Amino acid sequence: MTFVYDGRDSCVLYSPATGKWISFARSCPHAGIDLLSGDVEDLEDSGCGVIISCPAHAYLFDAHSGSCLWDTTRGQPPATPALLTYDVEDRHGG
Ligand code: FES
Repeated sequence: MTFVYDGRDSCVLYSPATGKWISFARSCPHAGIDLLSGDVEDLEDSGCGVIISCPAHAYLFDAHSGSCLWDTTRGQPPATPALLTYDVEDRHGG
């Protein structure tokens, strides 16, 4: 589901593994590409969280914290700023 929050195009996803919602701004912190067509891997069952892959340069972001997990600095701590994430409140108990 997509929405605009605080003037930013954003989206929300449901993780069946945790039963939790995840929400983040759609603009990639690297170069602003829309993440909506990127890949999302739900690896919660293996303890690796939910990973978002940008469709432009394949940088990887933790969907919960927004931290960049991999970028082209390979082997160095990622220099890319974190993805903007939002807390989600499920008011319907789903
Ligand atoms: S714009 Fe997303 S990784 Fe470059």
